[in-house]
Amino acid sequence: MELQLVRVPKNVPDPLNRQRSSCEKQMSDTMHSHAIEHPGENLSNDIRRRLADVEPRAQRTFTPSLAAIARSAGCYHWTCDGRKLADFTSGVLVANLGHNPVAWWRAVWRYLGLDQLPATADGFAVASPLTTYNATGEIEVQATERLIANLRSQSGGARCEQVLWAASGSEAVQKALWAALAWRRKDEPPQSTADSIILATRFGFHGKKGLAGATTGSEKDPERDARVRFISFPREECIDTAHRAQPLDTTCYEAELNELWRQHASRIRVLITEPYLGGGGSFHPQPEYLQLLQRFCRAHDIVFILDEIQSGFGRTGPMYAFTHYGLEPDLVCLGKGLGNGMPVAVVAGRADILGSLEFGEGSDTYSGNPLAAAAVLATLDEFESTDVLPRGAALAAVFQEGLERLTELPAIAHLRGEGLVWGIEFAPLGNRSAAEVARAAVAACYLGDDHGRAIHLLGPLAGTVVRIAPPLIMPPDEAREYLDAMHDIVTRLT
Ligand SMILES: Cc1ncc(COP(=O)(O)O)c(C=O)c1O
Repeated sequence: MELQLVRVPKNVPDPLNRQRSSCEKQMSDTMHSHAIEHPGENLSNDIRRRLADVEPRAQRTFTPSLAAIARSAGCYHWTCDGRKLADFTSGVLVANLGHNPVAWWRAVWRYLGLDQLPATADGFAVASPLTTYNATGEIEVQATERLIANLRSQSGGARCEQVLWAASGSEAVQKALWAALAWRRKDEPPQSTADSIILATRFGFHGKKGLAGATTGSEKDPERDARVRFISFPREECIDTAHRAQPLDTTCYEAELNELWRQHASRIRVLITEPYLGGGGSFHPQPEYLQLLQRFCRAHDIVFILDEIQSGFGRTGPMYAFTHYGLEPDLVCLGKGLGNGMPVAVVAGRADILGSLEFGEGSDTYSGNPLAAAAVLATLDEFESTDVLPRGAALAAVFQEGLERLTELPAIAHLRGEGLVWGIEFAPLGNRSAAEVARAAVAACYLGDDHGRAIHLLGPLAGTVVRIAPPLIMPPDEAREYLDAMHDIVTRLT
């Protein structure tokens, strides 16, 4: 393996830290002129070079491998040069059922009426339209009813009475916050939403756009929406799996919430959090932290939004993380695994809150379109009628064991995670920073070992944390094989 041939920049700014110094900006500008290249990848390098000319760098979050993928099936990708990669990412926690499951695709086609492909004489398929803007149809109502039934059948899903559709996770978060800000407590007079306060967990990730972006990160963001106040999250207390196993003393977190209430009282309308800090570095809190937040919301009639955009659809073990965290959110945001790759997201929750928005306030061109609804129906079919969740649970044990073995290596500082969502925090090695080691690990896994075993990973989260989140259907013996490969590759980095 010739790591030095991988032409990747040495320092890359953390995309979550929007306070970039001018030096970082300069570095980022310099990087732009170099397309990533890997030895012996003629076709992939050609694609990367052409893309660097026609797409701005903002299109992607920096990943030193920048895999050019030609085909995918199950838990594997094949690069444009024909190399096989085990997918330890599920896209970005999207293809929980694996890539291109045939039964899922057949169901999508069937729901759209494309399986028989009856056509008119002049060449049009007689099938569901792909757009039903300001109209509707059977597919949309079926998908909405099925999703509500699925959510309500789980412990903690009782408040999921209605669904507001969106086309991306950020949009679902934005719509959830709009609805929460428009909602009024009983007998409360109408008031301007400019006075409202949104609480969000510091270092959370809810997306990059609009209010979703405003609730992402911390108060260090200079363009922060003044309505957002960040609350503390117990990162130190769940820095690794051993710490997380200890009970959490919630006293200081409770005191902080009470002080906020004392200062702002009913101006606080909504609190948004994630089951775990995903994009913020894979910090999985003790359930008592999240339960405290929910209790605080209930005590003061504050809307409790749980962003399950990456944790839903079996990622942490059960169908939704709220079941095993002992929560019952007022609104829950879903995306990613909801469409298994089809761009679709929703906010589901209390009808009185979602009903606070007027006609058109939650609408847009693509939300609730038949293609998205068909994908959701097909995804629900798979989760409800196959053993994908128990398979995921069995695979989770294999990953936990394999990743715990990795922590013996000096390159690894901490391991955090649950189910099939893990974060490996890298440590500095010699004169290399932890961020450099993490990026080198991603590139080395992509290039693979001497047996041709290579792994697809994403660029590190929060600079130093490599995310491991394979599809739930990866066969356990193949997972062991690739975890062994990863161990060998990271060992060689040292
Ligand atoms: C918890 C969470 N919320 C929201 C989002 C934003 O979703 P999208 O990228 O689809 O806008 C993400 C994306 O990673 C996420 O992990």
